Amino acid sequence: MKTIEKAKVISNKFIDGNICDMVIECSRIAREAVPGQFAEVYPDNGVNILARPISICEINRIQGTVRLVFQIVGKGTKLFSQLRSGDTVRVLGPCGKGYELIEDVESTALLVGGGIGIPPLLETCKQLNCNKIAVLGYRSGSFLADEFREAGAKVFITTDDGSLGFKGNVVELIKAENISADIIYSCGPRVMLNALSDWAEEKDIRCLVSMEERMACGIGACVGCAIAIKEGDGFTYKKVCKDGPVFDSREVCR
Ligand SMILES: Cc1cc2nc3c(=O)[nH]c(=O)nc-3n(C[C@H](O)[C@H](O)[C@H](O)COP(=O)(O)OP(=O)(O)OC[C@H]3O[C@@H](n4cnc5c(N)ncnc54)[C@H](O)[C@@H]3O)c2cc1C
Ligand code: FES
Repeated sequence: MKTIEKAKVISNKFIDGNICDMVIECSRIAREAVPGQFAEVYPDNGVNILARPISICEINRIQGTVRLVFQIVGKGTKLFSQLRSGDTVRVLGPCGKGYELIEDVESTALLVGGGIGIPPLLETCKQLNCNKIAVLGYRSGSFLADEFREAGAKVFITTDDGSLGFKGNVVELIKAENISADIIYSCGPRVMLNALSDWAEEKDIRCLVSMEERMACGIGACVGCAIAIKEGDGFTYKKVCKDGPVFDSREVCR
């Protein structure tokens, strides 16, 4: 059974606007985590009791650390942004089911991330041993893009305002560049995942989507994070925190 651990903050810094890059020492999570899983991070302010799910962006098994890249959107993430090297933070993990990694070195994997959905794809990219294309969509800026290049991916950038790379969304870029792949790894806003899933289905490409839902317990004990999953002619509910966050796009009701 997973238990809450006290992790030491190794470093914490802003990398782009209100996006923070925090490395924490938690050797068990680092040892057990696979790409696409997340950590439940507890805000220790006596007010916000529930943990905040944050994807694991990078795993360093040798140093026993994991890297979390998060955007400040409310009280919990604001508090995490204020943690300094040497502070401790309570974490539970690794949580959920991650991405299944293809092993055929001749295959091409397409990694598609939107905004704050980009971080879990970095460790995925690092662990994949095949041809890699990353299509990263930003409002503006390009955080982590260089690290995808260092991990061996051919990187395409899209921005909403056209300030960098292609002006438009990730699916428009994929179509414009005529990109193809054997498998897709994706994480981002639901509208992006839906459009990507439609395109993948049309092209008959397997597409793994990491779903995001508001979470309460984060360990499968409530039904706070349930999403509709196809079953026969109808549907059933599955929990994003336990059965996901990664699902095959063909399973997910759109
Ligand atoms: C599996 C999973 C992985 C995630 N990975 C990351 C990550 O790597 N980096 C990152 O920055 N964020 C990630 N998130 C989103 C992150 O959990 C929320 O942004 C965070 O919980 C907000 O906490 P808060 O106390 O700062 O904000 P709150 O005060 O709780 O909320 C502030 C605002 O954020 C919105 N919000 C809160 N929780 C979520 C959520 N789960 N999804 C979408 N919007 C939310 C609220 O609607 C509200 O508008 C992930 C979420 C899930 C479910
Ligand atoms: S958050 Fe409680 S079951 Fe998922």
